Amino acid sequence: MNVYVFASPDEIGAAVAQRFIDDAQGRTPRVWGLATGASPLPVYCRLIDAYQQGKLSFRHIKTYNLDEYCALPRNDENSYYTFMHRHLFDAVDMEEKNAHFFNGTAPDWAAECRRYDSSIVQDGGIDLQLLGIGQNGHIGFNEPSDAFSGDSFKVELSASTRRANAPYFTNRPMPQYALTMGIRRILAAKQILLIATGTAKADAVQRMIEGRVTPQCPASVLQTHAQVSVFLDERAAAQLSCRTPTVR
Ligand code: PGA
Repeated sequence: MNVYVFASPDEIGAAVAQRFIDDAQGRTPRVWGLATGASPLPVYCRLIDAYQQGKLSFRHIKTYNLDEYCALPRNDENSYYTFMHRHLFDAVDMEEKNAHFFNGTAPDWAAECRRYDSSIVQDGGIDLQLLGIGQNGHIGFNEPSDAFSGDSFKVELSASTRRANAPYFTNRPMPQYALTMGIRRILAAKQILLIATGTAKADAVQRMIEGRVTPQCPASVLQTHAQVSVFLDERAAAQLSCRTPTVR
């Protein structure tokens, strides 16, 4: 893992956005795995800036979001479909057909997960995957458990995740279930960029980077992937015993 520590979330946003901008200069089309939550927001702001300055176009980009709540209509203000449109897609030249999401209201969730995974494979797999990390070490909605997951699946959200995300749900109770890319699906990405900021993430970050690889800390599995870059602020890095390699 390459670990980079920055002074602020905004600096992380600039550095991570640059990775996406550089990736978009390569062979097209590119396939990006995107994340929701607070961590990626500075990245999306920078990508919008780059688009407005003519440095980036989404016309040849396909995206797949990591996860989606079950039983939440697409147009609900808390759906990840709405999140991505509000924070990125509506401000750039992203084509609707190229922005892929789980359908959290699909009648058959297992079939929906199979559809999603095979669409990713048909598009050639994910080139660049953006991740956050939960306070409990989850990536996507892969919660701590006894075994690493494989393909996309329906998951029951943990108490920790529900506590962390409940403040967003002002209009309805927070869903209990979600559809998420599984661990094997995430590890199939060619490159992975993970962002963590703030003191609340410090323990999970330490276990991800320095702990043993265990499904009790799902993010620890990233130690087994050859192309992972972790972007931290000082607070999220506070519990790391080894601060090298640290790059600004
Ligand atoms: P956050 O969530 O970016 O809102 O902190 C990350 C996660 O739970 O995976």
